[in-house]
Amino acid sequence: MTEPAPAIATHGLRKTYRHGAVTAVADLDLAVPAGGVHAFLGPNGSGKTTTLRMLLGLVRPDAGTMEILGVRVPEDLTDVIDRVGAIVEQPRLFPTMSGLANLQILAQAIGLPRERVHDVIAQVGLAARAKQDVRGYSLGMRQRLAIAATLLKNPDVLIFDEPTNGLDPAGIHEVRTMLRQLGASGKTVLVSSHLLAEVQQIADTVSIIGRGRLLTQVPVAGLLDGGGRVRVRVTPPGEAARVLTAAGYLVGLDGSELLTVGRPDSAAQPDAVARVLGEAGLWPTELAPVAESLEDVFLRLTATEHLSVQAPGIAFGPSGSGAGATGGVA
Ligand SMILES: Nc1ncnc2c1ncn2[C@@H]1O[C@H](COP(=O)(O)OP(=O)(O)OP(=O)(O)O)[C@@H](O)[C@H]1O
Ligand SMILES: [Mg+2]
Repeated sequence: MTEPAPAIATHGLRKTYRHGAVTAVADLDLAVPAGGVHAFLGPNGSGKTTTLRMLLGLVRPDAGTMEILGVRVPEDLTDVIDRVGAIVEQPRLFPTMSGLANLQILAQAIGLPRERVHDVIAQVGLAARAKQDVRGYSLGMRQRLAIAATLLKNPDVLIFDEPTNGLDPAGIHEVRTMLRQLGASGKTVLVSSHLLAEVQQIADTVSIIGRGRLLTQVPVAGLLDGGGRVRVRVTPPGEAARVLTAAGYLVGLDGSELLTVGRPDSAAQPDAVARVLGEAGLWPTELAPVAESLEDVFLRLTATEHLSVQAPGIAFGPSGSGAGATGGVA
């Protein structure tokens, strides 16, 4: 069985600044699956922008290789650039011209028919405002216009560096919705973010980096399955813990009526846990799978990374969830 080729891949990618004093990206192996939204998640200064700039030929790596859609970059970037749209810095827009005119200039510059402009304006939901000056646009609308510009060539791959930065909640919502739609339409969207909640909302898969290194790459759903544990509220908790332990479960008791129930080998199923308790005459008042937040996962991974910075190619994952494998896109 062969894995489908990633849309974007980096191998041993490395970039230092100030004659090696600052390591921005260290031996980074990324594999972005084709189709869907892939988040590139890391705190400030972890090397996200540097990586995206290297992919786009704006910064030269010290070491490593990269491919976009199977084409070596930056060596053969011109062979693939027409299939890639990107926003890595503030897009330049002419404020005293309409959104429509801004896009028409761009379309003309890259030799595209004028009708294409109307397609992309509709695609980002700006049709009603297209003839107004950009200076009257909200930041969210400007960002949507910038996204429309990247869509002119109808690219297969989109690369956005923190596209919701600086937007108000309404603008953030607009842009996130757009990203999800683009991913759902079959395009490969690589989007960097330092916001865990954002990644949970928009991404199918995520690569998490800390200090320029890959910590893990997993499907977002797998990251959040809480390692197959179930939280149960039941009285008396001690009796319930005995019953569940006898049935082969691992039980965590926190001194209240709340139990955390797992299995040593597989995921604990809420209905199976309920049955075991019910057969012993114990009725839970609450029973739900444990949802570990991305924030918990991130802090756990970063904490471990601090302890093992020497270890190359570290790849951790939540227990038993198959993390570390390149995630497929549902
Ligand atoms: N041109 C440069 N000269 C010197 N150091 C740089 C340069 N560009 C980036 N760095 C350093 O490299 C590291 C990674 O920076 P980078 O901008 O890639 O991180 P980031 O993950 O995009 O951060 P943020 O979330 O703040 O955008 C940081 O320590 C940064 O200070
Ligand atoms: Mg950045």
